[in-house]
Amino acid sequence: MKMAPIRLPPRPKKFSGRSQVVLVLFVSAVVVLTMYGAVFRQQLPDEVIPHASTTVETVGGASLVTPTPLLLSATMSPPIQSSRINGVILFLAGGRWDAYFHKECLPRLEKYFLRCHEKEYPVHIFHENMASAQQAAIAALIPSARAVDFENVAAVWKTLPRGVREDTLAEWMQTGLQRKFQGRGYRIMCRFWAGIVWRLPSLQRYDYYWRLDTDSILTGPPLVDPFVTMQQRQCDYGFNRLKGENPHVAVGLWETFQDWAKSTGSTNSQWFQSVKRFAVSPVNQQYWAPMYYNNFELGSMRLKRHKLYDDWFEFVDSKEPFGIFRHRWGDAPLHTLGVMAVIAAEKWHVCNFSKTDVGYRHAATKPGPIVEISCNSTTAAGS
Ligand SMILES: *[C@@H]1O[C@H](CO)[C@@H](O)[C@H](O)[C@H]1NC(C)=O
Ligand SMILES: *[C@@H]1O[C@H](CO)[C@@H](O)[C@H](O)[C@H]1NC(C)=O
Repeated sequence: MKMAPIRLPPRPKKFSGRSQVVLVLFVSAVVVLTMYGAVFRQQLPDEVIPHASTTVETVGGASLVTPTPLLLSATMSPPIQSSRINGVILFLAGGRWDAYFHKECLPRLEKYFLRCHEKEYPVHIFHENMASAQQAAIAALIPSARAVDFENVAAVWKTLPRGVREDTLAEWMQTGLQRKFQGRGYRIMCRFWAGIVWRLPSLQRYDYYWRLDTDSILTGPPLVDPFVTMQQRQCDYGFNRLKGENPHVAVGLWETFQDWAKSTGSTNSQWFQSVKRFAVSPVNQQYWAPMYYNNFELGSMRLKRHKLYDDWFEFVDSKEPFGIFRHRWGDAPLHTLGVMAVIAAEKWHVCNFSKTDVGYRHAATKPGPIVEISCNSTTAAGS
């Protein structure tokens, strides 16, 4: 089934109005990169080897998640015949895991996944002013990708949301426990992944994304193609791990979610009550800040571009307490609430990708050797 992405009207003001120049530069950069991307992709074949010619066997299968009443009614639909899926693998490059990205992350992605799906899936890499030589080096590490697109998002790091000034942010980061947590760049990254990225025109053409981080590695050929699983199980979100966030960086988050629901007149809605059952512990009635890990997650674009999701991000991003910047709210607990709101409202499904389906590790310091292995191996997943 081809899922029509929901096209949202562009937000009137995505970035701070502080500098029109930055906005103009950003728009020009997008235009230039889009043109560059078109040229770059032209060199690659439009036709891809059909899925049936690959040898990956689907022996596992992500299980549907039924942790909360909202999903208990989820029914398993019969598998759809798989055809090529319009999915993209996303990374944000740069930072302290860069060497690891080159040495461990990309070679494994190539060997264990992309090579088994020759020219099937593009990889889209966001970066801040990455030199073209480095872009070429990265593209050379994943020759089996359908395309390797680079998008310079440096402009996002230059701006703060309207209402947040650099000096106030500096003050917030020096207040109390905040001193112990990540700084400006990290907070902007949270803003980027929570909302900004899903509004980028460059991702509009896709139906599904698979987000990995530069420190995420595959430990062997996945036993399932996660994109196929998402489509066959009709999942709009897929995760690998769910746990509670550090409460010190989730201060006021649930209150803000409630304020948002109230502002839309939804506190009595079925979806809000479902998210509440998911996020508030029945034991002590406290918000436990559940978060689907964001260094391995899949989703449909219609989910992340859903009006409800985008409204939630807009509310967080444009209003006091500006929690991403004041309290260092992470993208993980933020997007988890938005995702669950949409899933509940639309009665869509979530897929749980366990380690036996897709062997994956996060920030493994001793990841072991990269082994030559046939794509149809059924022994290499897990770690
Ligand atoms: C996901 O699946 C794993 C492995 O089957 C299981 O241990 C875990 O509890 C599941 N997570 C959720 C949230 O259902
Ligand atoms: C996996 O592929 C190899 C070679 O490509 C083949 O020899 C082997 O029989 C296959 N194994 C299975 C279980 O299909």
